[in-house]
Amino acid sequence: MNLLHNLFTIILCLHILSAESQDPAASSCNDNTKANTTTSRSIDTLLPKLVSGTIQNGFIATSYSGVHGLAQCRGDVSSSDCASCIQSAAKEIRTLCPSQSDARIWYDYCFLRYSTDRFFGEVDVSGVYLINTQNVTDPEAFNKKLASVMDEISKEAVRSSSRGLGRGKRDVSDFVRLYALVQCVRDLSEINCAQCLAIAVSNFPTVCGDRRGCRVLYSSCYVRYELYPFFFPLDSQESLDSRLGEKYERVVSHVKN
Ligand SMILES: *[C@@H]1O[C@H](CO)[C@@H](O)[C@H](O)[C@H]1NC(C)=O
Ligand SMILES: *[C@@H]1O[C@H](CO)[C@@H](O)[C@H](O)[C@H]1NC(C)=O
Repeated sequence: MNLLHNLFTIILCLHILSAESQDPAASSCNDNTKANTTTSRSIDTLLPKLVSGTIQNGFIATSYSGVHGLAQCRGDVSSSDCASCIQSAAKEIRTLCPSQSDARIWYDYCFLRYSTDRFFGEVDVSGVYLINTQNVTDPEAFNKKLASVMDEISKEAVRSSSRGLGRGKRDVSDFVRLYALVQCVRDLSEINCAQCLAIAVSNFPTVCGDRRGCRVLYSSCYVRYELYPFFFPLDSQESLDSRLGEKYERVVSHVKN
């Protein structure tokens, strides 16, 4: 894992984000890729296929005339949240990356990417981290619970019946509960899913160190923990409103060339 660790460089950017925003959590346009007219038309044809496939099955990986596309909703979101998320993603990605043939967009509820390179099934940990600006008060106790819940939900995610999704909770104290979720992109094999999640978790100490919340948005997996409920189903006494007021910083993760 240490070797893998060294493959990545981390650049701290100073954007402070509001958690409640419906805007994309992140996007990435590869400026080394320029779509010609033919490719651009193929992307425009592919995007509606990605949208309809995701609405039907929660996931699709498909190609059209030399362009490979993948889209997925988080396994716990409702079909209506999934539909509106992936529709926004397909629209926004062309606005944000109008001329590139390799583009990715992340929301909390969905993810979409396309490229002229065939990337299906490969572990790709380029992406973005969103880290809460606040630290936990008792790091030692917190990190033990975090490690234990991550271990449990990573194992859950790689079971084939889970479709790449794992969710869990831990009480950190009488008043504080930790919520954690992992989601692999569904074209990954079990071993590649496990690897993507393990890389994310191994980067916790350096990137998310002692933070109250952290989101890892890789191209192959999504890993998140918070001290408030953010995944479904919500318990009867839980509401998503508790995230209001939380602030995040953005950290870019990319594979060194
Ligand atoms: C457009 O780009 C694609 C992918 O890079 C390439 O295969 C194709 O030959 C190009 N077409 C034209 C007309 O340049
Ligand atoms: C949080 O803890 C890190 C070390 O783990 C420290 O560098 C940082 O300044 C702390 N931030 C706040 C807001 O306390």
